[in-house]
Amino acid sequence: NRIGATLPRNASRSPDLFATALVGAVPQQVWALALCRGDANASYCLTCLDQAFQDLPNACPYSRDSTIYYDSCVLHYSNIRSRPGDDTTYNPTLPLRNNVNATAEPARFQRVVAALLNATVSYAVTNSTRLYASGQADFDRELPKVYAWAQCTPDLTPARCRDCLAVNIKTWAPVFTDSIGARILGMRCSYRYETTPFFDGPVMVRLAGTSANSAAPASAPAVVPNVLTPAAAAGEGRKYSVPGMVLIVLLPTAAAINLVVCFLLWRRRRPLAEANQPYPGYSAKAEDIESVDSMLIDISTLRAATGDFAETNKLGEGGFGAVYKGTLPDGEEIAVKRLSKSSAQGVEELKNELALVAKLKHKNLVRLVGVCLEQQERLLVYEFLPNRSLDKILFDTEKREQLDWGKRYKIIHGIARGLQYLHEDSQLKVVHRDLKASNILLDTNMNPKISDFGLARLFGRDQTQAVTSRVVGTYGYMAPEYVMRGNYSVKSDAFSFGVMVLEIVTGRKNNDCYNSQQSEDLLTTVRAVAQYLNMYV
Ligand SMILES: *[C@@H]1O[C@H](CO)[C@@H](O)[C@H](O)[C@H]1NC(C)=O
Ligand SMILES: *[C@@H]1O[C@H](CO)[C@@H](O)[C@H](O)[C@H]1NC(C)=O
Ligand SMILES: *[C@@H]1O[C@H](CO)[C@@H](O)[C@H](O)[C@H]1NC(C)=O
Repeated sequence: NRIGATLPRNASRSPDLFATALVGAVPQQVWALALCRGDANASYCLTCLDQAFQDLPNACPYSRDSTIYYDSCVLHYSNIRSRPGDDTTYNPTLPLRNNVNATAEPARFQRVVAALLNATVSYAVTNSTRLYASGQADFDRELPKVYAWAQCTPDLTPARCRDCLAVNIKTWAPVFTDSIGARILGMRCSYRYETTPFFDGPVMVRLAGTSANSAAPASAPAVVPNVLTPAAAAGEGRKYSVPGMVLIVLLPTAAAINLVVCFLLWRRRRPLAEANQPYPGYSAKAEDIESVDSMLIDISTLRAATGDFAETNKLGEGGFGAVYKGTLPDGEEIAVKRLSKSSAQGVEELKNELALVAKLKHKNLVRLVGVCLEQQERLLVYEFLPNRSLDKILFDTEKREQLDWGKRYKIIHGIARGLQYLHEDSQLKVVHRDLKASNILLDTNMNPKISDFGLARLFGRDQTQAVTSRVVGTYGYMAPEYVMRGNYSVKSDAFSFGVMVLEIVTGRKNNDCYNSQQSEDLLTTVRAVAQYLNMYV
């Protein structure tokens, strides 16, 4: 808190938009580093870092070593002080791909990206005391431009900055060969490239698209200051980001840096085109759509049932929107999920989707009893389950007493059956994508029912976990290949299921963030125990 009171101001007032701070003495020491992207202005920098100081302690409450990345700033704090002369491998790094595939010519695209990154890094280390550069290269008619950004903390020497970026490019370029954009975010050095403009201010490096077929990096770049038009900037906002969305991920970095970083992106990447494709091999038939029509409930009925979505009837804020308790005129208790407005889908598309979701019926799935698509509202009406969600019991020191081994076994078994139905036995083969304890509801007999299945598709690939920037947690359940490559499959659901089984058995929550030096994280602890057993049993 002491650092948080001063560091954002110090960083935003410094010409480099960079500051570090140290308070206390070993072992009660906190060291922090704050850096804004080179194109940020002072006020935006301050806003971003203030936000970071609010979010990071909430996102990683048990971590002594945490880093949070936004589009425009990075904040790191730790009980260990990292000096710029130290081994630059201490650069907790977060690779993030833009999952849209490149072009018809990925190899040529990657050559242009490589040339552009080389030129941008060179500019940052030779021509900028702030170790910051932005660049742009021509590509083809379909994707006219590639934009790049590279930056180091300005306390590094240019040589160390170059090393730091070069190591990251070498590590990650072979991984991201087929994506149209990527960001490799590090505490000490970061870079990013996209085919839409994502930075403000002048373009420092420009590569003309002459001999794009030559394998060698292009010759010395021309430096042509150019200000991106506001229209282009606005376009980026529309196409690539949903402001206010928060994404929290933990992931192992390159094996060399045995460390896990917690981060947030201020802006969530937009859902992918891929997500809008129908279930493979299946589409809603006319009679299914009719069955959705028969499930339609008036908005006035739902307003009356929930006391006009009264705050007192709010059951919680889930991944896709707030949930309200309600009572229908016939006395049936319901839970009404009010989807946040971020679903880009129109009513017809949504109906088609819901027709498919409505067909999913299993005793371990929460039953959808109705929908309402009136007046801009997107409301899903589910059966009400009085015991609420598993996390509310499992992680409550008193309530968890109710869960003896028999009940825990029954819960695990029920979840597995529901999941098997989604993955294998239903006509649709649904990957849940957001399986976690708070999405497991319990009926009066403690039978588990999976909720929120099928909804990931309404919102695209990324989990819209955060309705507010306070909600965290989902990403502790995410399989590494999903975090790093965006590959999601039934296997990733199985990973999340495994995390949940560990939580149910141990009664401990898998932390969202952790670092390997502490044994506070559940997965780390379990891995260590498993290794121990392997050795001695
Ligand atoms: C600072 O940058 C932000 C974001 O780019 C912009 O909205 C704002 O208008 C800028 N403020 C000034 C004073 O230039
Ligand atoms: C991108 O390309 C990879 C391999 O070429 C393929 O497996 C994947 O489905 C593609 N993704 C999209 C969104 O087209
Ligand atoms: C640095 O700037 C000069 C002059 O603006 C330019 O000629 C040179 O190419 C730049 N160097 C790099 C590596 O971009």
